[in-house]
Amino acid sequence: MARRRLVLKNTTLFSDPANLSWERYVVMQARERERYLAERASIPDDALNYKAVSPRYIQNAVDQFANNYYSELSATHYVATAAANAPFDELKKSALFQLADEQRHLEMDREVFERAGIPERDWLAAWESPGTTCRFFRHLLELEDSIEILVKGNFVAEGAAGPGTFTVLADGAEARGDVLSAVNHRARIRDETRHISYGRALVKALIEDDPGNLETIQQWQDDSLRLFSEVARGGERQAWWEGFLASYYKIALPMGLRPTAF
Ligand SMILES: [Fe+2]
Ligand SMILES: [Fe+2]
Repeated sequence: MARRRLVLKNTTLFSDPANLSWERYVVMQARERERYLAERASIPDDALNYKAVSPRYIQNAVDQFANNYYSELSATHYVATAAANAPFDELKKSALFQLADEQRHLEMDREVFERAGIPERDWLAAWESPGTTCRFFRHLLELEDSIEILVKGNFVAEGAAGPGTFTVLADGAEARGDVLSAVNHRARIRDETRHISYGRALVKALIEDDPGNLETIQQWQDDSLRLFSEVARGGERQAWWEGFLASYYKIALPMGLRPTAF
């Protein structure tokens, strides 16, 4: 099947909603880093080293750790592709700042695996097992077109896994004594919110540029959500899945998109 491609003819319709320059980005991230390090420093040693959680928790959490770590790892690849192939500079700039953010998130999630004492040889197998986000991200990693990558990755996936689901994940981890995961999830929310904002600005620009683009965006949404729906199969993670769809539809329906049929 030939891939549909969208082109933003009037590129002035898109501008970075965070209005970042290199200078502003560096200052903002230095502040974020200080805040993160202060929160992390307040975690008692036992909790930081997963001595305060039950062994059963760790066993059950490995899939979740893998979902976190490998989606961030994937993001450092597909966002780099989106930046490299960006059709105009304003979009490239947003993608490059995002790339730096995703690298930070990746390192936070690697620390969780390491402190929880999960041997690295088990990480990938956990992600490749059924019921994870693997299928969606492997699809994203095959794409080369910047606009398709950013619509699927930022608008759909991050729009869905946005503030709502990270809060569910953070609260769930904290309630079980996994404070490091909770601190990490809360730290990434602000970055992910920025990634969603520019994904949303891109979708808005595409529709303004040509209302006919909506159908392709609908198709990309349907492809993406169907690949994700596996995560909720079997009724596990139901709260997560409901929050996921609700976050996404909150930004998608006002744009004229329809709910996906599963
Ligand atoms: Fe991230
Ligand atoms: Fe992100």
